[in-house]
Amino acid sequence: MANQSDHVRPVGRALAVLGGLALLVVPIVSPAEANDPDPRQNLGFTAEEKAAFLEDMRHMLGSVQQIMQGIAADDREMIIAAAKRSGNRMARNTPATIRAKVPAEFQAIGGPIHMTFEEISVRAQTDPLEDITAMTAEAMNQCMACHAQFQAD
Ligand code: HEC
Repeated sequence: MANQSDHVRPVGRALAVLGGLALLVVPIVSPAEANDPDPRQNLGFTAEEKAAFLEDMRHMLGSVQQIMQGIAADDREMIIAAAKRSGNRMARNTPATIRAKVPAEFQAIGGPIHMTFEEISVRAQTDPLEDITAMTAEAMNQCMACHAQFQAD
């Protein structure tokens, strides 16, 4: 009998450790979110914050559209104006309540996107348009990274 329990104990301990790990990786969800098929993290915005935030998003989409159109038409002024609309000015105008609410991972993706638009507006004055295209494509990786992770509710 002593032999058998010596044999069983390490297995039991291993199972306990596995159980503990499973608890660590199971996400903590509130009942309201338990049935949500959308795996993205909620930002906890109010209706007003969400409306303001999504408006900025639509402006950013507009900036990308105008940058592409400016590149196609070889119109640097169009590119510069479009990029500026989503640059530092948009970052500065982000409502303080939104700024205070969003998690660090969100800020890590969200802050640099405005810097990138600002940089596009400067480089569009002189750089080859292929470089501007490449920068815009690169910036859109940030759109995609954030959209994969967060939702605005
Ligand atoms: C830091 C995070 C973040 C970045 C970066 C970001 N977005 Fe968003 N965007 C969101 C979130 C969150 C939503 C809301 C998604 C949802 O609730 O389904 C959203 C929604 C949108 C929408 C829908 C607007 C509406 O009226 O419903 C558009 C368009 C959009 N984003 C465009 C862009 C573009 C273009 C870029 C890049 C140039 C971009 N976004 C970068 C987080 C981000």
